[in-house]
Formats: sequence, structure tokens, C-alpha cells
Amino acid sequence: MELRLDGKVALVTGGSRGIGRAIATEFARSGARVVISSRKADALEVAAKEIRELTWGEVETFAANAGDPESAAACVSHTIERFGSIDVLVNNAATNPYMGPMIDIDLPRLDKTYDVNLRGAFVWIQQAWQQHMRANGGNVINLSSIGGLSVETSIGHYNVTKAALLHLTRSLAKDLAPGVRVNAICPGLVKTDMARALWESHEDAVSAMVPLGRLGEPEDIANAALFLASPASEWMTGTMMVIDGGMLL
Ligand SMILES: NC(=O)c1ccc[n+]([C@@H]2O[C@H](COP(=O)([O-])OP(=O)(O)OC[C@H]3O[C@@H](n4cnc5c(N)ncnc54)[C@H](OP(=O)(O)O)[C@@H]3O)[C@@H](O)[C@H]2O)c1
Repeated sequence: MELRLDGKVALVTGGSRGIGRAIATEFARSGARVVISSRKADALEVAAKEIRELTWGEVETFAANAGDPESAAACVSHTIERFGSIDVLVNNAATNPYMGPMIDIDLPRLDKTYDVNLRGAFVWIQQAWQQHMRANGGNVINLSSIGGLSVETSIGHYNVTKAALLHLTRSLAKDLAPGVRVNAICPGLVKTDMARALWESHEDAVSAMVPLGRLGEPEDIANAALFLASPASEWMTGTMMVIDGGMLL
């Protein structure tokens, strides 16, 4: 099965590195025109250049904080102005500024976690809907986590946002059907900067707990995102794909 996105325009938040960058690369390789967004303009430019060289695809950048509604609106507008459409929105940017007992978190970091991971995801969907998808249809992919399906209290508030994101996915899938599909991906432990503290010092031991014997690579998740973005999944909405090497088992 060849999964193609020819003629499609995709916006990937958190696209400068890690899973978002792998998704943007896979989309560009599959024929989509892609806008990547994150906070740091210089890192975005470097990533876009490398993705272009790798895929020969059209990749643009827009610096935006995913937790800032005005930035979200501006980035969606820019995508439509630059490429004429926004067919696929990948809500990938997320933050985890606190590790430790849930009960002890300070309110600024609590607010940041919710503002970026949950409120932010909703605002980007709302902007995509209002500016383009309501009239033209579209496809939304939310990056949740197996943390949204299990309990790990040291990253408890992050996991609460990921659980809520799954409910947001199901609710909006129903609300926005049939024109817009909304699905979620729940990765297990993937080797990126965000998860570095969870694996770097003891990768062999963590890998031994994964039934398929290794940690995830960003490309494992990008393949699933490509499937959800493509017509091959056209009868899927409101679902979540767990991609974790069997960790949840
Ligand atoms: N890695 C894992 O094991 C794992 C497991 C389950 C779920 N996930 C989920 O997968 C997604 C991607 O994670 P990742 O591991 O690829 O993370 P990552 O390697 O740390 O990359 C995060 C990306 O998001 C951007 N970003 C961070 N905060 C942002 C903000 N406030 N506004 C806009 N952009 C922001 C970063 O760029 P800037 O810093 O320049 O803004 C970067 O491009 C997240 O939703 C994460 O929760 C990851």
C-alpha cells in the first residue's frame, strides 16, 4: 500500500525536531506541502532546509508558541496564504515542565502544561476549522501518549492533559464529522529530547521492558501519522492508535 498526500497541505506543530520533524519529513516525502511550527525560528529554518534536501518537498516555517492563541491564528493564516489550504493539522507540540509528586506542582507550571498540551491543541483545531476546514473539510491528528491511558504519577499532570486530549479527540470527531476527521496517536517511549530523562541513562533496561525489544524511533510514529493523514484511513475518526512496541501490555 503506497500512502500518498499529493496536493495536500499539512501544518505540523512542534515540527523542528523529534516526532514532529519525522512526521513533517514523511508528509513531504509523500507529496504534501508542509508548514512546520515551533517556538525557535532558527531551529525551524535548519529543520526545513534539511527536510527539503532529504525529500525535495516544499517545506515552510512559522515560529509560534503552541500555547498562544494569537500565534495559532497567525500560523494557520500563514499556512493558507502560503499554500492555499490547510488539509491536515498535526497537534504535536507539547511540554512537560515538571517531574515529581503531582500534588506539589506550582501553578505556573501546571498552567503551562495545560495551556500548551490541551487548550493549545483545541485552539489550533478551532482556528483550522474556522479559517478553512469548516468549508473545505480536513483531517486532524493529535499526539497523545500511552501516559493518557495509564498512571505514572511523576509526570501526572502531563498525563492528565494527554488523557483529556483523547476525550477531546473523540468529542470533536463526532462534532466535526463528516467533513473533518479527528484521530489520536498514543506513542510509547520514543527516543527524543522530551523523553531523554526517561531512557538515556538506562536504555537497555528500559528496552527490556518493551515486548518488541526496543524503544521507539520518531519514524515509528511518523508512519502512523501518514496512514491517518492519507485516504487509506478514510473511514476512521475518533480513534486512537497505540504505537508502543507493546509497552502497555
Ligand atoms: N518522546 C516520547 O517518548 C513521547 C511519548 C508519548 C507522546 N509523545 C508526544 O509526542 C509529541 C512530540 O514529542 P517529542 O518527543 O517529539 O518532543 P521533542 O523532541 O521535545 O520536540 C518537541 C517539539 O515541540 C516544540 N515545542 C515545545 N514546546 C512548544 C511550545 N510551547 N510551542 C510550540 N512548539 C513547542 C519543540 O520546539 P521548540 O522547543 O523550539 O519550541 C520541538 O519542535 C508530544 O506531543 C509528546 O507529548 C512523546
